[in-house]
Amino acid sequence: HPRRDWTGRRLLISAGPTQEAIDPVRFISNRSSGKMGYALAEAAQARGAEVVLVSGPTALTPPAGVEFCPVTTAEEMRKAVTGRFSWSDTVIMAAAVADFRPTQPAAQKLKKRQHPVTSLGLSPTEDILKELGERRTTQVLVGFAAETEDLLAHAREKLQAKGVDLLVANDVTAAGSGFGSDTNRVFILYRDGSAEELPLLPKRDVAHLILDRILTLQTGRRSP
Ligand code: PMT
Repeated sequence: HPRRDWTGRRLLISAGPTQEAIDPVRFISNRSSGKMGYALAEAAQARGAEVVLVSGPTALTPPAGVEFCPVTTAEEMRKAVTGRFSWSDTVIMAAAVADFRPTQPAAQKLKKRQHPVTSLGLSPTEDILKELGERRTTQVLVGFAAETEDLLAHAREKLQAKGVDLLVANDVTAAGSGFGSDTNRVFILYRDGSAEELPLLPKRDVAHLILDRILTLQTGRRSP
């Protein structure tokens, strides 16, 4: 890559969905493909960063040169991310972490005759990003917000609640945007209340622009 402007930086990225077991064969999850997080990992590696990619289950191949840490559940993702936190100088949480998990996953496959499941007891998972926001020392923290309505209002609330420096908001119901697509249309929100709207772009290009903005935030300089 012509720009090696992430050389010497240690970037921790989460990507993909998590899966929360109902029984040994069933789970609760979401529509994240991992494409946005993997695009960030690949772009940062190409620009010289040391990258650790913590990923839930996806169909993607981890980018070459990136340290890959596969996980399944929100709790496994929490352990992997918090375990790497002190190593990192920047964290980007692009993963779609499950907010709830079945409280008592069944040890055996639930049989529809003996145990017809008509409702599930759920418990909240830990909010990983919020925990990082409380624990951070010098790290730059970047979150995402996946919204289906009132994108900017909800994203501004998350920016405050999670204590991040920069928040990437996407409307996951917009055409060509959000889960699964190769493109995304995002707003980048800052702590001073400002927001930048980016056009619909390939996730690769969105990734490079997010990396540009993080550098600008840290150095006060625009990257070329
Ligand atoms: O993977 P793709 O198919 O490419 O789709 C990309 C994407 C839509 C998944 C991605 O662009 C995106 O928006 N990721 C965040 C999805 C999400 O879970 O958003 P949220 O608004 O629910 O969460 C807000 C932030 O808190 C996120 O940074 C999330 O990683 C983090 N979080 C959420 C819950 C939780 N228990 N722990 C967390 O750390």
